[in-house]
Amino acid sequence: GALDSLRPRYLNEYIGQNQVKENLGVFIQAAKMRNEALDHVLLYGPPGLGKTTLSNIIANELGVNIRITSGPAIERPGDLAALLTNLQQGDVLFIDEIHRLNRTVEEVLYPAMEDYALDIIIGKGPSARSVRLDLPPFTLVGATTRAGLLSSPLRDRFGVVSHLDYYTVEDLCRIVMRASDILQVKILPDAAEEIAGRSRGTPRVANRLLKRVRDFAQVRGDGIISKEMAVSALKLIQVDALGLDQVDHQLLLAIIDKFQGGPVGLDTLAATIGEEPDTIEDVYEPYLLQIGFLQRTPRGRIVTNRAYVHFGRTPNESGS
Ligand code: ADE
Repeated sequence: GALDSLRPRYLNEYIGQNQVKENLGVFIQAAKMRNEALDHVLLYGPPGLGKTTLSNIIANELGVNIRITSGPAIERPGDLAALLTNLQQGDVLFIDEIHRLNRTVEEVLYPAMEDYALDIIIGKGPSARSVRLDLPPFTLVGATTRAGLLSSPLRDRFGVVSHLDYYTVEDLCRIVMRASDILQVKILPDAAEEIAGRSRGTPRVANRLLKRVRDFAQVRGDGIISKEMAVSALKLIQVDALGLDQVDHQLLLAIIDKFQGGPVGLDTLAATIGEEPDTIEDVYEPYLLQIGFLQRTPRGRIVTNRAYVHFGRTPNESGS
């Protein structure tokens, strides 16, 4: 229900990403004033920063319906045609992981985005012909972890391209306080700051950590989240002072211990720690790159001095 959902529903509830928020607010208001569909929007940035949340907000602000799907879920042109022909005037179609659309589906999307039209092939062989079907004006909201993964014809068809960046600790702190309010749990300001500081710049992580700390506060404490309670709970769930979890540790320590600090190729690294290369690249690496623990080089991944220091290790002589 509405009460237990931590996701903001309108722009004025959405904390952070101020430039994106301000610009989207203008584009939405302009589209409403002209009684037009909003131009297609591409949201890109690391996972957990609120791309799905923002697309829901866009639909709510526009006062239209939203259909939610993902690149891998749309297997054939017919799947996309079914989605498009069910849209009403001005609706939002949200395609998560839009970089994973296959070529034939992507080609159906071009005229749909550009002319609100669907080109259908009827018949087979020499008598096959193409029929153009009109669609209602709609807004495609696409989400991807990296804009560079999109083909340029697809990228060029978005009128609005917004980059979401990691949140500041200050914004995450406000998000934790807001979530605590919704969850009806008492939290002290320095505890909120502690959780925010270990959330890897990511609201999804902040809210997850808050819920786990709340569990400890309820079972092992008096229900109130103090800084001491937060610190001890975070230690028990193995989230370190920088917010790195066990997979981050495994990844960095594998490079240090098994590959002398690197360079090591992504696939080799993935096989070593038993994760998917895509997960490492899209979920784990961006934050490790951001905090300067990892570098991508043409010959593979290398761990930096700063990471060695974090683990209390000394880099090899043979390293750089
Ligand atoms: N919960 C998750 N992301 C949020 C955001 N950006 N603002 C407010 N609450 C959130």
